[in-house]
Amino acid sequence: MLEGKNVNLRVFEKEDLPLLTDWYNDLEFFGEFVWLLQKSRMEREKWYDTLPSDAKLFFIEKKNSKKIGTIAHFLEGTLLEIGYFLVPSERGKGYCSEAAKMMVDYLFLSKDTVRVQAHTDVRNEASQKVLEKVGFARARIAKVGMRICWVCVFGGKVLSKCNKLLSILFFHLTFY
Ligand SMILES: CC(C)(COP(=O)(O)OP(=O)(O)OC[C@H]1O[C@@H](n2cnc3c(N)ncnc32)[C@H](O)[C@@H]1OP(=O)(O)O)[C@@H](O)C(=O)NCCC(=O)NCCS
Repeated sequence: MLEGKNVNLRVFEKEDLPLLTDWYNDLEFFGEFVWLLQKSRMEREKWYDTLPSDAKLFFIEKKNSKKIGTIAHFLEGTLLEIGYFLVPSERGKGYCSEAAKMMVDYLFLSKDTVRVQAHTDVRNEASQKVLEKVGFARARIAKVGMRICWVCVFGGKVLSKCNKLLSILFFHLTFY
């Protein structure tokens, strides 16, 4: 378990699937900017059993062990990416920013990578604020759809001061 000040990150186990199925079938949980994919418990089980080994899902838990959301890391192509969701009643309390910071620190410490990315809808202000607070910088807007790609590099706090230069650099690293 990864322990933070207000939240912990606990690795998801197969027996947690019923709760995850309920959350992931709930329109409110995903919010208005993320696709909603309805899946039965059996389909969710199959999904879990076929998750690639580089993908890992964690619960975001409060200090009293109450589960309030999920955060995951996975490979998008060859690039390490994170994604997160919080139950509506626990949003706006700083929990996701703390969880995302912990996840990024964990990835930099445990994986052979200096770069972590995330995608947000251009209208998703809450998620964009989370990423900014953690030290991500906008890299580019997707050619199709309304998605922004964000990148956090090891030691990103210093680098985020020169966002413009970074955006150009990452655009070239990603496309050329
Ligand atoms: C995105 C999400 C995970 C953010 O979680 P959270 O715990 O509410 O985030 P935090 O409390 O850490 O807030 C981060 C910042 O966003 C701000 N914020 C929160 N909700 C906001 C909103 N609806 N609009 C604008 N800003 C918002 C907070 O004020 C905070 O900024 P501050 O520290 O300057 O005050 C949560 O809103 C959520 O689960 N949304 C639905 C799923 C989703 O969109 N996931 C991300 C997919 S990319």
